[in-house]
Amino acid sequence: AGPRPLAGRHVLVTSGPTHEPIDPVRYIANRSSGRQGHAIAGALARLGARVTLVSGPVSQPDPPGATVLRVETAVEMLAACEAALPADAAICAAAVADWRSAGLAGQKLKKVPGQPPPPLELALNPDILASLSGHARRPRLVVGFAAETENVVSNAVAKRQRKGCDWIVANDVSGDVMGGAENAVHLVTAGGVEDWPRLPKEEVAGRLAALVAETLAGGAEA
Ligand code: C5P
Repeated sequence: AGPRPLAGRHVLVTSGPTHEPIDPVRYIANRSSGRQGHAIAGALARLGARVTLVSGPVSQPDPPGATVLRVETAVEMLAACEAALPADAAICAAAVADWRSAGLAGQKLKKVPGQPPPPLELALNPDILASLSGHARRPRLVVGFAAETENVVSNAVAKRQRKGCDWIVANDVSGDVMGGAENAVHLVTAGGVEDWPRLPKEEVAGRLAALVAETLAGGAEA
C-alpha cells in the first residue's frame, strides 16, 4: 500500500443517477453510469479516507473500502447525505434528477383507449450540493460537478457561485463522456481554472483525490 494522507478523514461521495417514480413500475432517470463517482470513492479510500458513497441505482461494483449506501430518489439521497455528516469533504458526482413526478400514482397508470395521455406534472427536487454547501455542518471542502454541452467554463464559474461550493469539476458532455471511459475536465476553484487533459475516469479520480488530500492537509481555505 502507498501513503495514506487521508487517514482519519471522512469523505462523502454521491454517484450515479436518481430514479424518480411516476407509478409503481415507471420512473424518470438519466444516463449517468456512476463510473466517475465510484472511481472517486475508490481513489479516496486508497488514500486512507473513510468513504461514505451514497449511490443511486448503478451497475458499478462497490469500490473497495467504501461504505456504500444505496438510494433511489433525490429526496432519499439528500437524507442519506445529511445523516452521514459530519464529513471533512463532500464530492457530489451524482447526476441528480432536477425534477420528480409531482404526484405519485399508487397504482400503475392505465392506458385508456380513446383517452389522451395523462399529464406528467413535475416538482423540483432538492439540490444536494447546494444543501451541503450551506449546511450548518458544512464539510470543509465541497466539490460539485457540472455537465455542460456549451460554454463549459463560464457556466461552471457561475455554478460554483450559485451553489456555494468550493470547486466545480466541469466536463463537456456533448461527446461520449456520459457512460464513457474517459473525461476531459476543467477544475474551477476560487483561484481560477485548470484545464486537465483527456484522461481515463480513474485517472481524473486519482488526481482529484490527491488534491483533496493536499487541501485537507493544509489549514488553508479551499
Ligand atoms: O445544477 P446542476 O445539476 O448542473 O449541478 C450539478 C452539480 O450539482 C453536481 O455536482 C450534482 O451532483 C449536484 N446536484 C445535486 N443535487 C441536485 C442537482 C445537482 O447535488 N438536485
